[in-house]
Amino acid sequence: MAVKHLIDLDEFSHEELFKILNMANLIMKNPGYYTDSCHGKVMATLFYEHSTRTQMSFQTAMLRLGGTVIGFDNPLNSSVSKGESLKDTVRVISNYADLITMRHVDEGAAKAAALYSRSPIINAGDGGHLHPTQTLTDIVTLLETKGTLENLTIGLCGDLKNGRTVHSLIKAMSKFNNNKFVLISTKELTVPDYIKAILKKNNCPFSESTSLADAIGELDVLYMTRIQKERFLSEIDYINQKGVFVLDMEKLNKAKSDLKILHPLPRVDEIDIAVDDDPRAVYFDQTEYGMYARMALILHILDSDHKLINDTGDVNPAFTCENEKCITNKEIYLPKLTKAEENKQVCAYCEH
Ligand code: CP
Repeated sequence: MAVKHLIDLDEFSHEELFKILNMANLIMKNPGYYTDSCHGKVMATLFYEHSTRTQMSFQTAMLRLGGTVIGFDNPLNSSVSKGESLKDTVRVISNYADLITMRHVDEGAAKAAALYSRSPIINAGDGGHLHPTQTLTDIVTLLETKGTLENLTIGLCGDLKNGRTVHSLIKAMSKFNNNKFVLISTKELTVPDYIKAILKKNNCPFSESTSLADAIGELDVLYMTRIQKERFLSEIDYINQKGVFVLDMEKLNKAKSDLKILHPLPRVDEIDIAVDDDPRAVYFDQTEYGMYARMALILHILDSDHKLINDTGDVNPAFTCENEKCITNKEIYLPKLTKAEENKQVCAYCEH
């Protein structure tokens, strides 16, 4: 076995992924059995960006496994406020913690942190890029509520451009047999081209729609997302997108009786609260499944058979990432790393 940072769920083979999913199921059935599994272990939660679910579900996961937690939930309360680099912060914290979960505002930050950490890094969300542990949560939710990860028509609705949970989920679910995707968004907020390229590479049929009402009837799964206000460069651009897609009972009445509605949360206005009481709404159960998923992930990553592997990419001094939200534009000492994708070199941090 050999992965040890979790930057992208892709890093797990199907075998490893199912090992974690099976573990999550075992923990769910008998949580008391695992209460001392991480005795003596310390996890650091470094949250450079706001969070409720991811941060607290990781914290409760580690505490329920018998470990302890250190960290910050606001970099302004740490020496980051004095100008400490990501590299130095991570290098230091990895002397204190056996495992680091990190959320950051910049795309590719988890990859950058992994370059300098002596302990495994778990990506708890890097800007608008990826959110692999939300995807693990989503997959556990689908297994528990739909009973399968295959033969599903999956609708994703809302901010498909900036929604990191969307990108991670499409990457993961496009690898399972016979899934189809319906991408529901405005023209301004469609999924990035690199995600469409992944769908094509995995021979996954997908269509694009600007109408939730028209698309909902064919779906087995509806993944609603909020418009990511914090990723917009101007307030007016955000206001133009806000409130375009709202799931209400009128639309839900056109859906299949066994539809499952997921949402990574937080919700703003994209799901009417009347929908919460419909049995098809599983987004609050999803938060509990996320805790079990993270317990299983912590156990997997701290498994003593594993060794720290860091697939860095290719050093390419001439490369400059053009993505202004990429970590390489803030932490300028980072080595210029690229990786091959569809016959071209992309940034190894943010995949731009
Ligand atoms: N789903 C999710 O990432 O929620 P938080 O931002 O509250 O962690």
